[in-house]
This record gives sequence, structure tokens and C-alpha cells, in this order.
Amino acid sequence: MAGQPLKYYIDLLESGELVAFPTETVYGLGARADNPTAVKKIFDLKGRPTDNPLIVHVSNRAMVSAFARNIPESAKVLMDKFWPGPLTLIFKKKDQVLDLITAGMDTVAIRMPDHDTALSLIDGAGPLVAPSANKSGRPSPTLPQHVRTDFGESLPVIEDQPTRIGIESTVLDLTEEPYCILRPGAVTLEQIQEVIDHPVVLTRDKKRLGEEETRSPGMKYTHYAPRASVRWLSKTETDIMPTCLYLIHSGHHPLLEENTDKNTPPSIINYNQDYDQLARELYDRFRQADQQGFKQIAIEAFSEKTLESRQITVALKNRILKAIGK
Ligand code: TXA
Ligand code: MG
Repeated sequence: MAGQPLKYYIDLLESGELVAFPTETVYGLGARADNPTAVKKIFDLKGRPTDNPLIVHVSNRAMVSAFARNIPESAKVLMDKFWPGPLTLIFKKKDQVLDLITAGMDTVAIRMPDHDTALSLIDGAGPLVAPSANKSGRPSPTLPQHVRTDFGESLPVIEDQPTRIGIESTVLDLTEEPYCILRPGAVTLEQIQEVIDHPVVLTRDKKRLGEEETRSPGMKYTHYAPRASVRWLSKTETDIMPTCLYLIHSGHHPLLEENTDKNTPPSIINYNQDYDQLARELYDRFRQADQQGFKQIAIEAFSEKTLESRQITVALKNRILKAIGK
């Protein structure tokens, strides 16, 4: 399917087919948001529970009004600042939005991806619902090859580079007070709070306050998991297990000190505080570890200081905890 003009994929979408396409976060599995048969195919193909709603992807602000019942002033500020980009906003929905998209809830999630191909595709085909283009429970795809591994050669995939960010968008619920980050991502709580006065909290903070279970249904499922078991690497661990892949990010773990540059085995990966690169590569590492037969993936735990100073780490920790199964 590689190398077809964009019109080819737009026609497929218009005739009710699914098309996988790149975004800046991960590859998405797209269907036209106004075609219930096509939307249903997404759930069937992914093996996705129908109580897990989908994100509507738009290429301009006018498209938002077709789905959102009202657009609060602070949403406009957030769209000005972060769109196109990895921030999904949740609004009260209009009646005509398909129930399948919103899992029967009265809210709808919308984002504008920061990717030229994705934007042109949406310009041509109209708003697209697109979950990550992986089988449910598998790590999200950051390369076209990941999509083919999960769905085979028959699914049309628009080929592109590895995705720039590598983990899924921040999901921000604007329908209740305080605004709530249901899924952390590359757009951070601090960045959001810098531009709007409304109080914003992370779901986990709400939980700490004894409030309800997460409002984002997708977050209750085990996600992003490779077959190898994922665990935190302790600060003092010095024995190398041959069947374990080690991902180190602080740059100074005893495993690195004991194994100087020359003899560091290939199973120890040193990100040397490049957390953006770790985010870009995490899901591919998960998938490769399975292919290479690793039984375990040990990832250095994040210190409190790291979580404060580099906010992509909040999203990374969230995804790693999901893979661990917590
Ligand atoms: O970066 C991304 O957001 C990628 C790319 C392809 O755009 N998409 C993505 O979609 O990650 P998906 O379906 O894998 O994750 C969507 C998340 C789920 O956790 C889902 O529960 C939540 O968004 N969500 C969707 N609509 C919602 C709603 N109305 N209320 C609360 N959560 C919602
Ligand atoms: Mg997903």
C-alpha cells in the first residue's frame, strides 16, 4: 500500500474503510466520524471494548463546533496555544455525535494532530475518529511496521517516519470543575496551568483526595504492555540477568558504573537524561524486547526530582505503570 497518493486513502475512508495514518504522537487507526459502520469496524479490528470512547481528530476549528455543544473560553485559549498538538480536549457533546464514538457518554474528546499528512487527510476526508493503531492491550504503534505486525498487510497504512513524540496525547476534561488531566502526555499540567486561570488537577491527585475512579474509561484497561514482564529497576541493583533488558535514564546507575562504555552489554540502554528520546523509543523497545526474546524489562525508577523538573516523565511513568500492570 506504500506510496499511494493521499487521494487514494481519502477515497477509502469515504467508502467506509479504515486507514492507519501517522500523527506526532503515535499512529492512529482512522474512520470517518459520521459513518457508524466504519466506526464499528475499529472496535472489531482492535478487539476494543465498546465502553472505551474514541477521539475525534479535526484539521480546523470549525470542525470542533460540529461535535462540541459549547466551547468554554479557556478551551479557546488552549486551542490557540497547543493546537495543532498533543492535547485532546473533552467537551459536552452535541446530540448528533454517534454513541459508538462516545461510548454512550454525554462528552466527546477532540484533538488536532500536529502532522501535515494527518491534517491533509482530515481536510480531504472530514473529521476522523482514531484510536492508536494497535490491537487492544499491545503497545501503541510508533512505526508503520508496528501497525503491520498487529494487523497484517491488508490494512492500508500511510507510511511515514517514526512518530516524533512516541506516547499518546494529553487528555484534558473541561466538562467538570476542576479541569482534570485524565491521561498525562507531552503537554503538561504546568504548561496548561500557565495559560488558563481555571484550576487543573491530575487524576491521581483527585484520587488522593478520595474522589471517584478515573473518568477516562480507557485508563482502566491494562495498556501498552509487551509480553515480557515490566518492572522498576532499583537504585542498588548490580547483577545483570541475561534475559532482562535494562532501560536507564538518569545517566548514573551502578549498572553503568560497573560496566564502563567499552563493555556495557547491549541489553543495557543508557538514555542519559534524554527523556524525550525515551518517550519516542519506549513502545518500540517494548516490541523489540519481545522479538529478541527478553523475559523482563527493568526500567530505572523516576526520582521525585525528575518528575518535577522534566514533565514528560510524568507521562512516561504513567505508561510504564500501565505496562507493569498497576
Ligand atoms: O495521541 C493520541 O491521542 C492517539 C493518536 C492516534 O491521536 N490516539 C489515542 O487514542 O491514543 P486511544 O483511543 O488509544 O485513546 C483515547 C483515550 C482513551 O483513554 C479514552 O478512554 C479517552 O481517550 N477518551 C476518549 N473519549 C473520551 C471521553 N469522552 N471522556 C473521557 N475519556 C475519553
Ligand atoms: Mg490506545
